[in-house]
Amino acid sequence: MKNLLNKNVTSINMDNFQTVMKEVSRKENVIDLTLGQPNFETPAYIKKAGIEAISNNHSGYTDFLGLYDLRKETSKYMNRLYDLTYDPESEIIITIGASEALDLTFRTILEEDSEVIIPTPVYVGYEPLVQMAGGKPILVNTVHHDFKLTADLLKKHITNKTRAVVLPYPNNPMGALLSQTELEDLANLLASKDIFIVTDEIYSELHYQDRHYSIASFEQVRDQTIMINGLSKSHAMTGWRIGFAFAPSFIIDAFLKIKMFSTVCATSISQYAAVAALKNEQMSDKEVLDMKKDYIKRRDYVYNRLLAMGLYVTLPEGAFYIFPSIQNTGLSSVEFSLQLLKEENVAVIPGSAFSNDGEGFIRISYAQSMDKLEKGMDGLEKFINSFSN
Ligand SMILES: Cc1ncc(COP(=O)(O)O)c(C=O)c1O
Repeated sequence: MKNLLNKNVTSINMDNFQTVMKEVSRKENVIDLTLGQPNFETPAYIKKAGIEAISNNHSGYTDFLGLYDLRKETSKYMNRLYDLTYDPESEIIITIGASEALDLTFRTILEEDSEVIIPTPVYVGYEPLVQMAGGKPILVNTVHHDFKLTADLLKKHITNKTRAVVLPYPNNPMGALLSQTELEDLANLLASKDIFIVTDEIYSELHYQDRHYSIASFEQVRDQTIMINGLSKSHAMTGWRIGFAFAPSFIIDAFLKIKMFSTVCATSISQYAAVAALKNEQMSDKEVLDMKKDYIKRRDYVYNRLLAMGLYVTLPEGAFYIFPSIQNTGLSSVEFSLQLLKEENVAVIPGSAFSNDGEGFIRISYAQSMDKLEKGMDGLEKFINSFSN
């Protein structure tokens, strides 16, 4: 019967990621620098709202689009932070993490052989979701372009089959950002074309420049843009599973047709907690800023340690990952990660997990305590030094 399974599913290949993670799970006392989630607790005022939601029996289905109060708060939040204007009645849907928003997006906009341009190295989620929706991922290597999808680079890959382009900034795994000007160049290029822009801004609050800009704020592309965000990373709420999609109403209407028959609504308790998370603007800003300050300290520490080891690395401008090159060791990124784990008990993710263009790099997450980061960097340094002996 195995041959009857859907090829779009069975052909998904996560080997590079799983080989290392399987080894990590077999070992004890690993210094784990693989984490894709904040090592902070969900802020107390949000946890309290979740507990109150349970006590107050908010345990029924909610509106398919999500609680109106939450849509209203996300609308205000996006307006306050990024000058975006979305109508909570018709242009916002609450999803089960950013992951479901991405799934709804690709299932809605893709047809057989639609091409989706994805800049690489890249977050592991897009390619499988595009493939499962019947589309064709067109991977564009940004390694020699400061890890950025520029308008010039994008232009070279647009064909008459291009249905969408993914903009994953701030970026996982490199921590790259696009500036306001770079976004405007992309907006001007795409404005005249029948191409959707899927902008995954789940790390928008974790930017280390002056402020985050969203391509959705450029009027010329607003009506072809699906903006994805959520509370997983910004508010340390990965397990609560709250994401948002913002788009013109004709897109949200189509999302609803999938959502009402697949997952119905995001968890009610989490939605009530999310209302509290955003409604209290002062608390929200304070908690996010406190975490951000800590990430910057850790980023600078790890960056300087990597430079001192003689590794080629760029300073991340957002998210909580850093992506040094390990090419000089002569090992593949999987070999490097497995040997580092075996010899120093330090776990990192091989760059090749983030597409073939990530080969020659490793991803280190600094969403980890300073103590662990210090131990991790000591282990990595010892391992790197063993190549020059
Ligand atoms: C770029 C990016 N997008 C989306 C997600 C998924 O977010 P969520 O946990 O809200 O589904 C992740 C998680 O690591 C991510 O790194």
